[in-house]
Amino acid sequence: MCGIIGFTGRREASPVLLDGLRRLEYRGYDSAGLITGTGNAFHLRKKAGRLAELAKAVSAHPAPGCYGISHTRWATHGGATDRNAHPHLDASGRIAIVHNGVIENYATLKHQLRADGVTFRSDTDTEVLAHLIGHYYHGDLVAAVRQALALVKGTYGVAVVSKDDPGLIVGARLGSPLVIGVGDAGTYLASDANALAGYADKVVYLNDRQLCVLSGDEWEIRDQDLSPVATPLRDIAHFLGEGDAEKGDFPHFMLKEIYEQPETLANAMRGRLVDADSTAHFGGLNLSSQQLRQIDRVILTACGTSYHAGLVGEYLFEELARMPAEVEYASEFRYRNPPINRDTLVFAITQSGETADTLAALRESKRMGHTTLAICNAVGSSIAREACGGVYLHAGPEIGVASTKAFTSQCAVLAMLALYFGRTRHLSSLQGQRLIDELRALPDALRKTLGCHEQVKRIAAKYASARNVLYLGRQYLYPAALEGALKLKEISYIHAEGYPAAEMKHGPIALVDESTPSVFLVPRGNVFDKVMSNMQEIKARGGPVIAVASEGDEEVAALADDVIPVPDVPEYLQPIVVAIPLQLLAYEIALLCGCDVDKPRNLAKSVTVE
Ligand code: AGP
Ligand code: GLU
Repeated sequence: MCGIIGFTGRREASPVLLDGLRRLEYRGYDSAGLITGTGNAFHLRKKAGRLAELAKAVSAHPAPGCYGISHTRWATHGGATDRNAHPHLDASGRIAIVHNGVIENYATLKHQLRADGVTFRSDTDTEVLAHLIGHYYHGDLVAAVRQALALVKGTYGVAVVSKDDPGLIVGARLGSPLVIGVGDAGTYLASDANALAGYADKVVYLNDRQLCVLSGDEWEIRDQDLSPVATPLRDIAHFLGEGDAEKGDFPHFMLKEIYEQPETLANAMRGRLVDADSTAHFGGLNLSSQQLRQIDRVILTACGTSYHAGLVGEYLFEELARMPAEVEYASEFRYRNPPINRDTLVFAITQSGETADTLAALRESKRMGHTTLAICNAVGSSIAREACGGVYLHAGPEIGVASTKAFTSQCAVLAMLALYFGRTRHLSSLQGQRLIDELRALPDALRKTLGCHEQVKRIAAKYASARNVLYLGRQYLYPAALEGALKLKEISYIHAEGYPAAEMKHGPIALVDESTPSVFLVPRGNVFDKVMSNMQEIKARGGPVIAVASEGDEEVAALADDVIPVPDVPEYLQPIVVAIPLQLLAYEIALLCGCDVDKPRNLAKSVTVE
């Protein structure tokens, strides 16, 4: 995905555009660009690399004007180069566009445009849009944008300007978010309301297939037939997550967000654990208790880390609610078309609420008539708005590309949902109260777990040169193993695989030698002895073992090469506790590898392309 900022009003645009991009850079950061206008002149600046490169270019050659559009890119077509950076212009140079998404039929359109004599300056799919708009432009920019987009297959969030209409910005969305902001100095367009904090007082999100027209203080939304759509503005505060999007005293957003987890976990549970009924309560499900009682099966669909939380959720629903539950990769689920019986509830689990694969899986579930609920962090995001109802994480903005606090809050919300469903079925009030007490004790357990950081630093120093790492756990700790491996992979670029601990005997153990460490998740529990046997099997082949174990566990300490202690919690809550040492281990190793922890190569915070 990428970040888009547009502004038109009564102040210089480029400082607003650059500041907005700074707040969106985590969304995509392989190149950036902006264009401003004065009279009928454009001032285009675009650079490969981080936003700082663009800022330097603008400082050296200011881009004057009180309107403009800008973009941070996460490349899908064409490398991260100056010429592939957005904005892109049409052949006449009169029209400029920035785009978030993928033009799936760009090759066909490009071929047709080339046949019409168009010369392309970049390798991107987006440039096709610029030329299409130019092709249909006969003085009405809105009509030209609409006609061009009607030919597009794929996803887009676009902002378009024309030299002939100084101060006018046309926006449109299909699958990639766009929000209009209104402030004292003028009107704004952005991919995310957080980028407009401090500028806009009121915002309104576009829906799919809507266009918008901004000029000075005027703005309007139109449907795809260009009929005006009345949509009320809302206070921007409603859409800004709790907490702030600043690093504070931490060197990286990721470390800040790891250390925030005792508080964010408490936020996720605040007001939702109800002693009077020994159950959990949610305000936004928008479903009656009768409708929820009707549900006899649960599907959890998500991507990446959120998928791993969904896998924890599968175990939670099966154990606490005694309900059949299945977790599905959203990208697979949306095309697999599995037989789903009528009373199935589909959860879409997502931090950003904009992940294209998860949004598509949600829409497919709704199309089939299933009840859908979102478990989401970003208030007002596409998935949060399109699900029948849902539960917000209240974790505050998660800026580090590697998801941390969202994962632990997703697991806590899923535990509370499993408690809720369990109490409508077989859990007694006594059992419900016990679960409530255990959940309430979790933030303190996380606070205590953060005390392992110095030990993790020492272990990271020992293993930072590894090129392959296995993460192994059983039952609830199998999803935690997958998540630990993903953390290491995505920020240190070291290959890591998560497996059910017993499964490593069926092949992966062939990878084991003295250079391949295995991280075992082995706190005390029902399968402790089995996991200890798996550790023996690794040790017998000379493989180093790092054990995340119950504090003071002498038996593990006698066998493992290194131990990271965690406090004892009930097994169904162990994935939340062990997440902390695994996040810290990945963080410390990535630092030692010299990687950019907050903006790892090739990644973006929310993948709004398929
Ligand atoms: C997690 O660390 C990754 N950044 C990525 O796998 C992420 O979890 C995935 O893209 C899903 O994002 P979402 O939760 O915003 O939908
Ligand atoms: N597909 C476009 C490109 O590769 C836009 C990618 C993005 O969303 O940043 O330039």
